Amino acid sequence: MKVVILKDATEVAKYGAAIFVKQIKRKPSSVLGLATGSTPVAMYEELISAYKNKDVSFSEVKSFNLDEYLGIADDHPQSYRSFMNKELFDHVDIDKSNTEVPPGDAENPIEACDIYERKIFDCGGIDIQLLGIGRNAHIGFNEPSSSLGSRTRVKTLTQETIDDNARFFAKDEFQPHLAITMGIGTILESKTVVLLATGENKAQAIVDTVQGPVTAHCPASALQLHRDAIVIIDEAAASLLKNKDFFKKMEQENMRLEESLGNKRIV
Ligand code: GLP
Repeated sequence: MKVVILKDATEVAKYGAAIFVKQIKRKPSSVLGLATGSTPVAMYEELISAYKNKDVSFSEVKSFNLDEYLGIADDHPQSYRSFMNKELFDHVDIDKSNTEVPPGDAENPIEACDIYERKIFDCGGIDIQLLGIGRNAHIGFNEPSSSLGSRTRVKTLTQETIDDNARFFAKDEFQPHLAITMGIGTILESKTVVLLATGENKAQAIVDTVQGPVTAHCPASALQLHRDAIVIIDEAAASLLKNKDFFKKMEQENMRLEESLGNKRIV
């Protein structure tokens, strides 16, 4: 696992976006795994700028989102499909028919999960998966106790997650308590995983993810088993890590080595 500690949320967004731009330039038909939540928004803004500056094109890109609330349709303002259209897809040249979000209004959600898995498989798998992290270290909607080998399925949300996400819903609005989410096993099969976290309220989740044991009770800790996982965090989210100086030194050494190798990334 590579841990990159940066000054603030702006630097985190820029660093994350640069990795995605590089991936798409290297393989224009990349399959992206995308995430929602407030953390990735600034990175999506960076991707939109890169597109507008003609630095990158999404015309051949395919995408799969991590999750969607169960019980709301695509066109619901709080659906993750609406979020993705608003924060990214409406502003770049991606073909929306190449973008997949789990169907929150599926008549048969269990079957829909299997179909989602098959679609990922049929595309040759996800090249690079973006993740945020919940305060309880959930990734996608894989709440604590999720099996580390889990696949796309219906999950019940914890009260903590429901409360954290209540800010996106009006006071009397229906807020789903269930979601369809890629499993941890699905996420681990992505060739590269990029997790972004900013702010002090993510510090405990980050120290558990990076320096705690690998356990289903800290879903993001499963990334310790991935061969190309990059955790990009600001100083606030890194505040509980034990050896921050070592991570910073390692990043400097990696950058030096990468430059000398023509910008090939060292995991
Ligand atoms: C939701 C999403 C997660 C996201 C998390 C944290 O629960 N399903 O994918 O990582 O929120 O969101 P935020 O970035 O707003 O803290």
